[in-house]
Amino acid sequence: MREFVGRRLRLRSAVALLLFAVPAFADDLPDPMTDEARDVACGLELFSPNGRLALCIDTDADGRLRYRADFDDDTVVAASGLGLRFASRIDLVTGLTIAGVERGSADSRWEQPWGERRFVTDRHNELAVSLKAAGPERRLVVRFRVFDDGFGFRYEVPEQAVYADARLVEEASEFRVSRDARAFSQPADGKLRYEELYRESAIGVLDKVATPLTLRLPTGVHLSIHEAALVNYPGMSLEFDAESVFRSHLRPSSEGWRARLSVPFVTPWRTVQIAEKATGLIDSSLILNLNEPNRLGDVSWVEPGKYVGIWWAMHLGQKTWGPGERHGATTAEARRYIDFAAEHGFDGVLVEGWNRGWGGDWVAEARFSFTEPYPDFDLPAVAAYARSRGVRLVGHHETGGHMSHYEERMEDAFDLYESLGVRQVKTGYVGPRRTLKRLDADGNTHLEWHDSQFAVNHYLKVLEAAAPRRIAINTHEPVKDTGLRRTWPNWLTREGSRGQEFAVWGATPNPPEHETFLAFTRMLSGPMDFTPGIFDLDFEVNGKPRRVQTTLAKQLALYVVLYSPIHMVPDLPENYALRPDAFRFIVDVPTDWEESIALAGEVGDYVVIARQERGGSDWYLGAITDEVPRRLSLPLDFLDGGTEYIAEVYADADDAHWDTNPYAIGIGSARYTNDDTLELDLAAGGGAAIRFSPAEEAESP
Ligand code: NOJ
Repeated sequence: MREFVGRRLRLRSAVALLLFAVPAFADDLPDPMTDEARDVACGLELFSPNGRLALCIDTDADGRLRYRADFDDDTVVAASGLGLRFASRIDLVTGLTIAGVERGSADSRWEQPWGERRFVTDRHNELAVSLKAAGPERRLVVRFRVFDDGFGFRYEVPEQAVYADARLVEEASEFRVSRDARAFSQPADGKLRYEELYRESAIGVLDKVATPLTLRLPTGVHLSIHEAALVNYPGMSLEFDAESVFRSHLRPSSEGWRARLSVPFVTPWRTVQIAEKATGLIDSSLILNLNEPNRLGDVSWVEPGKYVGIWWAMHLGQKTWGPGERHGATTAEARRYIDFAAEHGFDGVLVEGWNRGWGGDWVAEARFSFTEPYPDFDLPAVAAYARSRGVRLVGHHETGGHMSHYEERMEDAFDLYESLGVRQVKTGYVGPRRTLKRLDADGNTHLEWHDSQFAVNHYLKVLEAAAPRRIAINTHEPVKDTGLRRTWPNWLTREGSRGQEFAVWGATPNPPEHETFLAFTRMLSGPMDFTPGIFDLDFEVNGKPRRVQTTLAKQLALYVVLYSPIHMVPDLPENYALRPDAFRFIVDVPTDWEESIALAGEVGDYVVIARQERGGSDWYLGAITDEVPRRLSLPLDFLDGGTEYIAEVYADADDAHWDTNPYAIGIGSARYTNDDTLELDLAAGGGAAIRFSPAEEAESP
């Protein structure tokens, strides 16, 4: 970082601005981080409430707005340009002058109806920079918000004739970081969409990557670049170039343009979370804070909880989605799962493969009915039986990736589920990259990316159709999460990364490090329906051996580590029956939290998270490691002072190993106070799950 950043930054004189034209890695440039350079003030400054993070904003010699971010006096994002490019070529990039500035600040606390923490503090300072250009009237506002845990900016295009019906061909946002940073990323254009593996690398080897993109700077400071409030706009990925700059890349539509917009419009926020340590990224609420408040009002019908389902048996090849001898979604099988859920206090039963359309090549055909069950599935009777047992049927709409086909039918489909008391529906958009189908007004089919503007709008249309019917959505093969659950709290969770099901499919199973990447990357965007809790880790699919690459204890820990307001209990009931002691943790663990704290961890290596049950006094702790066994010493200072806790511990046994001895688990109890330090030994690919209950409550009759 020190090689080049500062020179662009603190210098405002005309002479200094000339330096901006010099290639980034030219050796003859002065050391950008000398005290002299540091002392030069920048044009507009915006500090975080605690003063540790500062944005410096100015226009360069070409009239382009730039920003720089300093954290504790180190530049973490060096001078980076901003702007929007339009198909008309009348861009909002250069030739701009600052016409006005407005400042503001906020210090408030808001409550999440459900979430990883009940209360979120929103403390930030704001700066709106109004820009204008000579010639044809061009105006742009760039709004910056700086929090203690990072910053965001967005473009606001006011009403103006030249952009009446705007087609955006690119956004010119840059993020210039040290060439010595390490990146934790997944490719943006992979065949599997967001379901590619994460990898650690030097940033120099990257081309185009998806967000959230997590970076570790040479100073140890961690950044995560992402976006918030992605509405009516394409998703952003980041293209890296030799100047050590990540440049925004908007997902194109099948029409060529990136976004079609009418003025006035605002873009999503571009976000940079900043933390001294990797765990600080997990504790950040920046993405939520940059979303609009709840638009749905009373959402008490959005219910966190756990669900089981007719699901894993299909992935194992024991049952089928489509009709036939091995059809999974039969009335009898649904009743069996409802009984299993009721017996253990689980809230829902997902049934996949209940509706017509699963025969043949259902992805290519994508002709599902969302109202007609197969004859061996009595939908009203199953829903009624579920209700009689205090459980709810969880609906399923696999669309085969056909947005228009689904949009035409979803109102009727949600009406039906509403009439049956269904409160959650899992949707699906199976298909590799750029295969979401869309019909135009003439009935022609177009193929879109899952994060194109068309798709972004589609996913939200579904949420808005479901909400009046008091239905919450769990989207599989979704667009990435950008915190819209704050505005639409019926967007309960989603997939949007490799879930547990990759263990079944053979070619590239999730390696032991997978979830230690997720915690610091994908999970920063929001909840994930990962489906933790597989108990039969070593099985066959169509005669071929398959392995879940974790220990049993790690499967339990994932319920705490990977946040989702609904978690599945996915394995076959008979597999849980074989291990009732370990199963106890899954029965006990809540999915809605008062507070969450990331206690320790490094990206891709290990992570420990503690969460306090919402409305209760119990704490739960999840710890996981990659393929490296580790000993962790964890101060328990998050527990209430003056209270003794009984800890029920589910941890890898001494000889546990994900590959050779995955089921070796030690289950026991111990007493702790918040003065104690917990010593935990995690096996290779292992983990630990702990429930802490105040001793007085646990022992009272
Ligand atoms: C892929 C989803 O991720 C999986 O959960 C679902 O079972 C299948 N599609 C079928 O809809």
